[in-house]
Amino acid sequence: MDIFKELYLYLFLIMAGNSFGNIFRLTSYGESHGPAIGGILDGCPSGINIDIEKIQHDLDRRKPGQSAIVTQRKEADEVNFLSGIFEGKTTGTPISFVIYNTNQKSKDYNHIKESYRPSHADLVYDKKYGHRDYRGGGRSSARETAARVIAGAIAKQFLSSIRFTAYVKSVGSIELNKPYQELDLNNIESNPVRCPDKEIASKMEAYIKDIKKEGNTIGGVIRCIIQNVPIGLGEPVFDKLHAQLGKAMLSINAVKGFEYGSGFSGTKLKGSQHNDLYNNDGSTKSNLSGGIQGGISNGMDIYFDVAFKPVATIMQNQETINKKGEKITMEGKGRHDPCVVPRAVPIVEAMAAITLADFILLNRTIKL
Ligand SMILES: Cc1cc2nc3c(=O)[nH]c(=O)nc-3n(C[C@H](O)[C@H](O)[C@H](O)COP(=O)(O)O)c2cc1C
Repeated sequence: MDIFKELYLYLFLIMAGNSFGNIFRLTSYGESHGPAIGGILDGCPSGINIDIEKIQHDLDRRKPGQSAIVTQRKEADEVNFLSGIFEGKTTGTPISFVIYNTNQKSKDYNHIKESYRPSHADLVYDKKYGHRDYRGGGRSSARETAARVIAGAIAKQFLSSIRFTAYVKSVGSIELNKPYQELDLNNIESNPVRCPDKEIASKMEAYIKDIKKEGNTIGGVIRCIIQNVPIGLGEPVFDKLHAQLGKAMLSINAVKGFEYGSGFSGTKLKGSQHNDLYNNDGSTKSNLSGGIQGGISNGMDIYFDVAFKPVATIMQNQETINKKGEKITMEGKGRHDPCVVPRAVPIVEAMAAITLADFILLNRTIKL
């Protein structure tokens, strides 16, 4: 079996696409079981006060081992800054940072050296690059997203007047189906699921525990709200604000969908029901546009949903193939997340903040 025969022509390709953003630009590096992961954040203006504890707080919300419903890999995820911050403020130079990996159990991954987890990145990495760090999924591991959380936490401090809030809206078919305006968003961090409705949160938590016992995984949806956004962010035609937010979200591991404003449900309405009518000051009475019109922020809240799949690694025997194309049975091994949405909440906020920081800086570009 050689369905990827044509790709062999291009074996040993470089991996492109390790950076995100035009001016406020993050490059991440590192693999799950290498010595470290980290990043370089270029284009952050000088003079921004940086509170390292706030950065660490966001990292702690993402880190593994934080509760019984996430992967039990134990990492402190402590960030070390090497440049770009001096006496508590950014200097305008590249901000480089590193997190040392301390809790790798690489032998748990010997079984995927020569064979491929169904619906993970193992097969395509092998076919494309010819040589891969298979330990813990290597570069395809969501451990990379720690770098995004650090850059995002810096972006949040740069954009201190803008509020980024994400929460878990659904786990499997258990859904919090209320408008975000009716929720107490202060409750998000009060439970390990990160759902602001405590009753629904405990149902979600119990369900994730059952799924874990089964050796299975389940998906979910994260809602993100961005408040106090200035009018005028976004660059028509190709770099519309929602297009860049969509790219930011779809670049997160395991993301399968993005919708903003009325999204897919808006297709069921008539124009007369869907139009957001104006108040005299230019704000709108409703906000089905999701705070973006013509690709430009209109000053209303931006809100969007991000769909995460049930991740690939399940603790059950599965049929798969090995490098030689032979059918084999693969055992589920290693430490994995039964449901990634609780840990993905700070990642979604981070990518939203990086995207907006970039547009703010694009607006500041001086034309000569
Ligand atoms: C916070 C987070 C944790 C994740 N943990 C796991 C995991 O434990 N096991 C797994 O198979 N995938 C996990 N993933 C997803 C994989 O990284 C992802 O599915 C894989 O790279 C393949 O990419 P794709 O699903 O986007 O196609 C996680 C994703 C996120 C966002």
